[in-house]
Amino acid sequence: MNDTQIIAEAENFAKEQLGQDTTGHDWFHTDRVRNTAALIAEMEQADVFICTIAALLHDVADEKLNPSKEAGLDKVHNWLAEHLSDEGLIRHIMQIIETMSFSGGGGEPMSTLEGQVVQDADRLDALGAIGITRVMVFSGAKGRPVYDPEIPPRDESLQKEYRDYSKGTAVNHFYEKLLKLKDLMNTPYGRKLAEERHAFMESFLEQFYKEWNQGSRKLL
Ligand code: ADP
Ligand code: NI
Repeated sequence: MNDTQIIAEAENFAKEQLGQDTTGHDWFHTDRVRNTAALIAEMEQADVFICTIAALLHDVADEKLNPSKEAGLDKVHNWLAEHLSDEGLIRHIMQIIETMSFSGGGGEPMSTLEGQVVQDADRLDALGAIGITRVMVFSGAKGRPVYDPEIPPRDESLQKEYRDYSKGTAVNHFYEKLLKLKDLMNTPYGRKLAEERHAFMESFLEQFYKEWNQGSRKLL
């Protein structure tokens, strides 16, 4: 199989695995991450093939879609072993996906340029207009309110609390995670893309509070 055929097979595998997901890890998320990863890879002179395969498979191993993190990673490893013969390449891609699957709280930094590119692409999809849409959809699916002025944002680094969706709001997630991502970008081009999306979220929040508080100076 040539690279184009392997990529087509990875697309099919990801579609089949992610098709039914409603937690923000659907196929279109993967497709966007794959496109953004290729764009950043070109700008940063990273290996586009490795970035594309890692991006296509990055959510297949997600712990939310599998009985366990290990089971998810095994599934991805088996697929790679069936489609690639170069052990070094398989290890490189597995290492990216393993590191990304710990993104919820305090994972290790990405050690390869390709890993940095794919992680940037995944983070970018949590920002901007798409990012705002995903927070709202995710929050609705988890039964979290959009906003409550009485509930302050929490420290996101507390992994246990982070996955306890009952205690927070969609708007708090901006402060707990999304507004921090710009400064965590790995590559210069990824950061440049993040800045525009970050600014858009800030103006969204400004407008949100303006509308929320409009007319709240009670006259009676
Ligand atoms: P990733 O696997 O890419 O790190 P997550 O699984 O943490 O992403 O999140 C998937 C999407 O759901 C993201 O767009 C994220 O902003 C949103 N999301 C994650 N956790 C929360 C939360 N606690 N409240 C609201 N939205 C969330
Ligand atoms: Ni993702």
